Amino acid sequence: MKISSKITVYLCSNCGTDYPKWFGQCPNCSEWGTLSEYNVPKSKRRSLNKTPSESIPLTDVLQTGQKKRILTRIIEVDRVLGGGMLPGSLILLGGNPGIGKSTLALQMLGKVNKPSLYISAEESADQIAMRAKRLQISSSAMQLSGENHIENILEQIILLKPEVIIIDSIQTVYSDSIDSLPGSVGQIRESGQQLLQICKERGVTIILIGHVTKEGIIAGPRMLEHMVDIVLYLEGDERYDHRILRSVKNRFGATNEVGIFQMQSQGLIEVENPSELFLAERSVNVAGSAIFPSLEGTRPILVEVQALVSNANFGTPQRNVNGFDFRRLSMLLAVLEKRLKLPMGTRDTFVNLVGGLRIDDPAADLAVIIAIASSALDKPIPQDMILIGEVGLAGEVRSVSQLGKRLIESHALGFKSAIVPKFGFKKANQAPENIKYYQVDSVKKVFDIIFT
Ligand code: TYD
Ligand code: MG
Repeated sequence: MKISSKITVYLCSNCGTDYPKWFGQCPNCSEWGTLSEYNVPKSKRRSLNKTPSESIPLTDVLQTGQKKRILTRIIEVDRVLGGGMLPGSLILLGGNPGIGKSTLALQMLGKVNKPSLYISAEESADQIAMRAKRLQISSSAMQLSGENHIENILEQIILLKPEVIIIDSIQTVYSDSIDSLPGSVGQIRESGQQLLQICKERGVTIILIGHVTKEGIIAGPRMLEHMVDIVLYLEGDERYDHRILRSVKNRFGATNEVGIFQMQSQGLIEVENPSELFLAERSVNVAGSAIFPSLEGTRPILVEVQALVSNANFGTPQRNVNGFDFRRLSMLLAVLEKRLKLPMGTRDTFVNLVGGLRIDDPAADLAVIIAIASSALDKPIPQDMILIGEVGLAGEVRSVSQLGKRLIESHALGFKSAIVPKFGFKKANQAPENIKYYQVDSVKKVFDIIFT
């Protein structure tokens, strides 16, 4: 009797879970129509549960486990990583094509001073060398390879003993043992798992570069995000040359930490003072512009919120927002209409966070609502004023986190007055003295201060 060396599994393209039979709906993540058939070698399946590893006393690990982080010596990157790369960590770096992932990865290797390996199946060694020349990287500790077979990649890692490895990109790596194309769910899952294994076994740091789909998530199974220790996204707007590196998951540091860069001819240059960058072209004495001290991770960054309100000439009013939650905008418009008697229902409203920044912080509410009101009433907000506070449904202004830090940054950039939540301000320590504070508990009060 011939025993087949392969077994068939059904893999979910969303979460990466496999099943021995097909389902219309994935039992794990409940997505419909995401399961497809793959042939996986039997030996592979077994190799996953190989000899059990020994257990070690916690105290031994505590003594020896204080591994030294590997610094990329790019301050912005090291901060986002939580203080450099921890040996044995698997890092996923995602972003749109052309945003600068390969550039950043190469720059990260450029200064590590450790044996490193750059595996690129997307570009030839010549192309990478040309980019390295442009970035003025000439590290003798770096090896280049164009390999895209996962088995050969693992072999190279064992042979060359690099401490930091870049896989550019995970979508181009494939295993012969799986009969599907590179970039498919099965291939990404298999390569990811093999790399995870070698990463933990040998204590090497591996950075996986991943492309992002139109919906903005890393192409391939979601499982990749669960598998890695750190997920970084490189973001940016084609209209601007600055790039934002954001940690959305970090097992070894804070999440939502950001690093800000500018893409120039010598690669990604760190931006030391992002507030200055974001406020560089700000419009002064124009109605509809408000400044808000946002907090990205642990870092305060001042941003300009722009709003434009005009009469809707064509039926249903348009509402458009960039960098801020759309539903939150609708809520703020309802507050303006109901609590402040500002008719918004027949007007087009556009809100834009300048510089392509995305803010997910309720503390931005007050700046957004007042920027809208400023445009609607055609009355500018004083140019040396910042606004901060969360707005509730009753039109009340609520306290925000880390007010002191935000105020220090505002002071450093020369702002002279601040509208702050009354309740939060009492508790805020480190608020700089030379700012004039208006403590408010409702949007109505802010109207009285600015618009009358
Ligand atoms: P790249 O790192 O190749 O992007 P990704 O790997 O995310 O696809 O960078 C793409 C863009 O960056 C490309 O359009 C050229 C530009 N670039 C610069 O402006 N300056 C530089 O020094 C480099 C290397 C690239
Ligand atoms: Mg690339």
